[in-house]
Amino acid sequence: MGCFPCLCRKGSSTDDDQGEASRKGSKQAGNNDDDENAKPNTSGSVKNDGGNGNISAQTFTFRELAAATQNFRLECLLGEGGFGRIYKGCFQSTGKVVAVKQLDRNGLQGNKEFIVEVLMLSLLHHQNLVKLIGYCADGEQRLLVYEFMPLGSLEGHLFDLSPDKEPLDWYTRMKIAFGAAQGLEYLHCKANPPVIYRDLKPSNILLDDGYNPKLSDFGLAKLGPCGDKVVVSSCVMGTYGYCAPEYAKNGELTIKADVYSFGVVLLELITGRRVIDPTHPVEEQNLISWVRPMFRDQKRYPELVDPLLKGLYPTKGLNQAVGVAAMCLQEEASVRPLMEDVVMALRFLKEGPLPGATEVPFTMAKPPIPEEKPQSFPSEMSSSNRSNGSQCRERSRESSRSSSSMHSVHSEESPLTNKSFCSKNVRL
Ligand SMILES: Nc1ncnc2c1ncn2[C@@H]1O[C@H](COP(=O)(O)OP(=O)(O)OP(=O)(O)O)[C@@H](O)[C@H]1O
Ligand SMILES: [Mg+2]
Repeated sequence: MGCFPCLCRKGSSTDDDQGEASRKGSKQAGNNDDDENAKPNTSGSVKNDGGNGNISAQTFTFRELAAATQNFRLECLLGEGGFGRIYKGCFQSTGKVVAVKQLDRNGLQGNKEFIVEVLMLSLLHHQNLVKLIGYCADGEQRLLVYEFMPLGSLEGHLFDLSPDKEPLDWYTRMKIAFGAAQGLEYLHCKANPPVIYRDLKPSNILLDDGYNPKLSDFGLAKLGPCGDKVVVSSCVMGTYGYCAPEYAKNGELTIKADVYSFGVVLLELITGRRVIDPTHPVEEQNLISWVRPMFRDQKRYPELVDPLLKGLYPTKGLNQAVGVAAMCLQEEASVRPLMEDVVMALRFLKEGPLPGATEVPFTMAKPPIPEEKPQSFPSEMSSSNRSNGSQCRERSRESSRSSSSMHSVHSEESPLTNKSFCSKNVRL
């Protein structure tokens, strides 16, 4: 098994460094004797197909991908994002069905995302990350070939459902939250150095036939701090509404920014509402500001639940899921939980009741809920007394220490108070 070479430089790093690191990484991965930091860390647990750090993804010609997508036919279009269009394709020789992303050819930014995505997905392998099959860098063309995810993105199953489409049930929602949390836990705690995903949102959570989620779109992912190093982003990227306040305002980027985004997605799963939704009354258009005052009042949690669930949810499960979301959405990054704590909490929420269980699993009415503080994990959910959490905890302490020494590079208003609306990836 190979491992993920540390590509960070000494001292603080910026987005420009990241681009440089990525370019370097493509040449140096696992094979650099000059830089101490670039040596593969033998304790790293990231699987690498090549074994020596080389990129394992296949290369394709533009002609091959044009043939697979019937010349990028409109009928094959699966969706369009901030970086380009995605088509369904099929290789005639093998019958393999894939998703082909054709990046917009306007400028360097797209090329940088392309390189980061190829590097990240070639080196990171987990059941909850989408697989990169290959890529094409023919002349000006930049394309990425992924495994095809038959159920598309979570966004298509959660919002604006047509009347004939079945809404996701409670346990499927929790299963999706759990899988997405596991993907982030892998990036934060098991990849070495840690990876900050930076773009968690429902359209980037893809679903297989069994509603198992996989994170996609690693073009914005960044290597997290190595040792006592700090990541200060001079160029804040992400999607409006999902970005943690300290990152959007000051460019302070730690793994806790992903934890915040996860809290947003979990709340969207519970409520069936988009984080920013101009179709609601003004005071409810921003999901986070609408829900935040309710976090302290457990009796009001049933008001949050997606009406499409028709009351079919376990009361305890709802209380705990909202409690987890509240923890993740705390303004202060350092007090947000680690993804390993979140995974631990959600593990129990995704399971339906055991046969013969005495507790009534679902509630149709709104029973009285005992007053309880939602802002803390039950003791069995805390990882502080578990030995396998030590590495991630150590990193978390480093990241919270380092965030206090970061200097502000941005002074804009938090996107959560901004009235404009954008669901695509943008420079914030
Ligand atoms: N591997 C895949 N298999 C099946 N469908 C996919 C795959 N990848 C993407 N899609 C579909 O294409 C849509 C567009 O994805 P894309 O990542 O380009 O844009 P986005 O997530 O909406 O925006 P952004 O550019 O901000 O990430 C997704 O919402 C999903 O429905
Ligand atoms: Mg996307």
